[in-house]
Amino acid sequence: MGLLIKGGEIVTAETRLRGDIFIEDETISAIGPGLAVPPGTEVIDAAGKLVFPGFIDPHVHIHLPFMGTFAKENHAAASAAALIGGTTTFVEMCCPSRKDDALETYHTWKQKAEGNCACDYAFHMGVTRYDDKTEAQLTEIVKDGTTSFKIFLSYKNFFGVDDEEMFHTLKLAAKLGVITTAHCENAELVGQLQQLLLAEGKTGPEWHEPSRPEAVEAEGTTRFATFVEQTGATGYVVHLSCAPALRAAVDAKMRGVKLHIESVLPHFLLDKSYAERTGVEGMKHIMSPPLRDKRNLPVLWNALKSGLIESVGTDHCPFDKEQKLMGAKAFTQIPNGIPGIEDRVNLMYTYGVKRGGLDIHRFVDALSTRAAKLFGLYPRKGSISVGADADLVVYDTSYRGKISAATQHGINDYNGFEGFEIEGRPSVVTVRGKVQARDGAFVGKPGIGRLLRREPQRKE
Ligand code: URP
Ligand code: ZN
Ligand code: ZN
Repeated sequence: MGLLIKGGEIVTAETRLRGDIFIEDETISAIGPGLAVPPGTEVIDAAGKLVFPGFIDPHVHIHLPFMGTFAKENHAAASAAALIGGTTTFVEMCCPSRKDDALETYHTWKQKAEGNCACDYAFHMGVTRYDDKTEAQLTEIVKDGTTSFKIFLSYKNFFGVDDEEMFHTLKLAAKLGVITTAHCENAELVGQLQQLLLAEGKTGPEWHEPSRPEAVEAEGTTRFATFVEQTGATGYVVHLSCAPALRAAVDAKMRGVKLHIESVLPHFLLDKSYAERTGVEGMKHIMSPPLRDKRNLPVLWNALKSGLIESVGTDHCPFDKEQKLMGAKAFTQIPNGIPGIEDRVNLMYTYGVKRGGLDIHRFVDALSTRAAKLFGLYPRKGSISVGADADLVVYDTSYRGKISAATQHGINDYNGFEGFEIEGRPSVVTVRGKVQARDGAFVGKPGIGRLLRREPQRKE
């Protein structure tokens, strides 16, 4: 039986038109006004609502051993929360530690997700060591359809790679035609500054930002861009948080370096004063790169509007209050990360499109289409076109509400955006034509999500 999404305002990264969308066998088979459909077709009335392509979160952590604990998350809960918030595909970071075997880790991450995700998903393969086995292992992983890498310039001795390893990873990425995403902070400076601050008795969460200042992120961004340039690779800076790092990335782009920029939800809406709150209140807002001085927020919004910042993820990485309190005696022990997978679309729509002058097509591009293009998912994902997967978000712009841990669907015990107003939320969310969420509730089938196998984007 087909499904008709009838009479909505269809908004993509490029176009806007009122019409119907007819879905058969998981994909979109017709788009247009007043479509004639076979008897028995299920009809969803989208009159007065917007219809977006399913949103894509290109940066999430679900299974994550990190900082002596595990992210408080699982695939069933995270994917249901994602869907309620309009995200129909996410890309999870597969993160071996430096001592883990890459291939074994990849299989572990795949097993954790398989049969447990209610939305579609893919992985960025973390490269956290480069040794004799790495080229063969990564080649096998790319052949399996995981065609993007992730490196960390920070987190020395755990996830972090040194410059030699970064060079070899980027050379291999260029050869295989895959894009490399990177967390850009200078690991050595972070480590040294942390020790200096702790030695001065500066142990609270308010010292996290001073231990990783803007210049440290700018240095990491410059160095990553230089290595991308010298290896002929394609790079993607994740969770860029501040003006100096943005300038470094834009400077590289202007030289013709194939470098793309992502920022994530917290850095558009929160500043470092949240992390300066005392005790666990501050700890809830510890992430890396850290929340910044508020003068950076309008810079990030303007860069998003102009397209310099190309995509918006969440860096969803939940730890509960008890875990955060592991850092009660030293900010260096606070697990880094904040949840956001459920809230990205509604918050960016509210504070961007409704209140901030963000063009609605740029919004769709930044939260869906651009990630699909950069990570080999387009036009199957990120578009509303005949033949595309029927991942659709019927969006109710008349909804009014507030973000709250009391009503969220994720399993964490706080929400970093507590009390933020939202103006709009998904009314119906489909994954390959199946209705998975309605008006703030998961109504679909758990575990139907598929691993998206992707082709390399470009070969040397
Ligand atoms: O604080 C963060 N961002 N936690 C997750 C790991 C990472 O660096 O992305
Ligand atoms: Zn990171
Ligand atoms: Zn991350």
